[in-house]
Amino acid sequence: MCGIVGYIGKRDAYPILINGLKRLEYRGYDSAGVALSNNGQIIIEKQVGKISVLEQSIGDKPMRGLVGIAHTRWATHGEPNQINAHPHTDSEGNIVLVHNGIIENYSTLRQMLQDKGHTFNTETDTEIIAHLIEEFYKHTQNFEDAFRSALLEIDGTYGLALITKHEPGKLFAARMGSPLVLGVGDEEYFVASDASAIIAHTRDVIYLEDGEIAIIDEHGYVTKTIENEVIEKKVERVTFDLERIEKAGYDHFMLKEIYEQPRTVADCMRGRLQPEEGVTRLGGLSPILHNVLRARKILITACGTSYHAGLIGEYMLEEYCRVPVEVEYASEFRYRDPIIEDDNLVIAISQSGETADTLAALREAKRKGATVMGIVNVVGSSIARETHGGTYIHAGPEIGVASTKAFTSQVTALALLTIMIARTKTMSAEAGRRIVQEMMILPEKVEQALKSDEIVKEIAYQFKDKTNFLYLGRGYNYPVALEGALKLKEISYIHAEGYPAAEMKHGPIALIDEDMPVVVIATKDSTYEKIISNIQEVKARKGRVIAVVSEGDEKLKDMVDYTIPIPNTFNFLQPVISIIPLQLLAYHIAVMRGCNVDQPRNLAKSVTVE
Ligand code: AGP
Repeated sequence: MCGIVGYIGKRDAYPILINGLKRLEYRGYDSAGVALSNNGQIIIEKQVGKISVLEQSIGDKPMRGLVGIAHTRWATHGEPNQINAHPHTDSEGNIVLVHNGIIENYSTLRQMLQDKGHTFNTETDTEIIAHLIEEFYKHTQNFEDAFRSALLEIDGTYGLALITKHEPGKLFAARMGSPLVLGVGDEEYFVASDASAIIAHTRDVIYLEDGEIAIIDEHGYVTKTIENEVIEKKVERVTFDLERIEKAGYDHFMLKEIYEQPRTVADCMRGRLQPEEGVTRLGGLSPILHNVLRARKILITACGTSYHAGLIGEYMLEEYCRVPVEVEYASEFRYRDPIIEDDNLVIAISQSGETADTLAALREAKRKGATVMGIVNVVGSSIARETHGGTYIHAGPEIGVASTKAFTSQVTALALLTIMIARTKTMSAEAGRRIVQEMMILPEKVEQALKSDEIVKEIAYQFKDKTNFLYLGRGYNYPVALEGALKLKEISYIHAEGYPAAEMKHGPIALIDEDMPVVVIATKDSTYEKIISNIQEVKARKGRVIAVVSEGDEKLKDMVDYTIPIPNTFNFLQPVISIIPLQLLAYHIAVMRGCNVDQPRNLAKSVTVE
């Protein structure tokens, strides 16, 4: 998720662009850049690091121009460095653009353009777009036609702003899958990823929809579809204040990120599913693919929520790939001199890519000769750079300290890895196709699970003053119980424990009474009948049971105190859905208790110390 800003009008664009970028820094902050069109020339300045670094590097340079674009980056393809920073250009520097999104077919387009003689300076998918427009322009000699034709070739998502020497007094914008607003000022116009970058100048905006473009000059704008149909767009008034815009109207970043999960799960799979062959593709593993596919043992190491994702990975990889898997807290792994053979694969899972214990654990694994791969969110982070290969989860910046969307994307990435390996072993093409088809509708099922929010909020109200919770699950839902308990603990400060449901008999059942709420993940899978008997054990001791159940499950409704229905899916994908109501339960209880949901006490987003 990056931030883009564009301006055209009667004022100097530079200060408007830079201040607009600062409003968007929460969307990404690993590099920043600006381009200005002035007297037929385009100047570009860009730097790795935050916007303040860009400002300092520009210093007192004369940044003249009434038309410009700017970008603050959250890297998806290509390390965060100066070269990969936006804006990007075509071969001659005549076309300059900034982009927010993921181009799925960029490898194919890059190869096609290279075959036509194009050379590329960066590792980004964005640069492809400028060259593609250049290629079309060679034939059309009409820039707008070339712009639209290029967009029609792109699979994936984009929010784009573009300036060009071919049409010096114009600003071009396009939206497909990434938000873009057009700000309408007094003889001046703005383009931005969201209104926070422009409400200092105007609150009159047009929200572009997917498949729409805007061509803007000093006299006004026209909005069209990429198929060249002119459309009238309604000018709307932004009433939100700045803070609420950054949170997209949600009260907290955590809630926004919980609700982003249908898209972030889809983004994690974007370009990585091949439904016809029933296989998955993880390009970042190419350098180590042989070792990944041939690993005789897999060790997963991580902390906190990432550790819980790893536990689910263990179940997946053992079930479908028949490879022995161990999962260990990184802080334990790094100090206990683990036994590692050179045909072992170590997987380090980390949202931030900077967790000290996980970084130390992967270094220890490398020292002992293992192949080490990462499943990381922050591109170019220390863990990502120090592994032999890896998979980015493309969840975008996770601002809330309590990890939510990163967890579901980590589990999704582990599912992609599992299918990729399993299809080289015993999984048939037919089985692979069935699973890939189900993965393609997973985002819709996550969306459906979010509809339980109101039910969960009512349940939260009933239990917000409790001092202890127990979370129970079996099989794939056991790590979900651990993760649900961690979510509650870390943002509401209520003590909560996750347990394998059957393990309750070996001690925790002594805790059960009418004051101990028990959350049970009881979706219909191979352990369903067993978990029912665990629920009956709790009820026999006056425990109050909140059950996460499969939609349509009437049997449990009469047996427990509260049910939260969610869609069913394959067992190994179920955690991506089962966790949603538990994230919402923790969120609502914490809000009702007046806790600081986005920055809970004593916690940091990234634990970079031991
Ligand atoms: C999760 O909600 C916590 N914030 C914490 O447990 C976190 O998962 C852990 O610190 C690991 O962080 P990482 O994924 O960035 O390595």
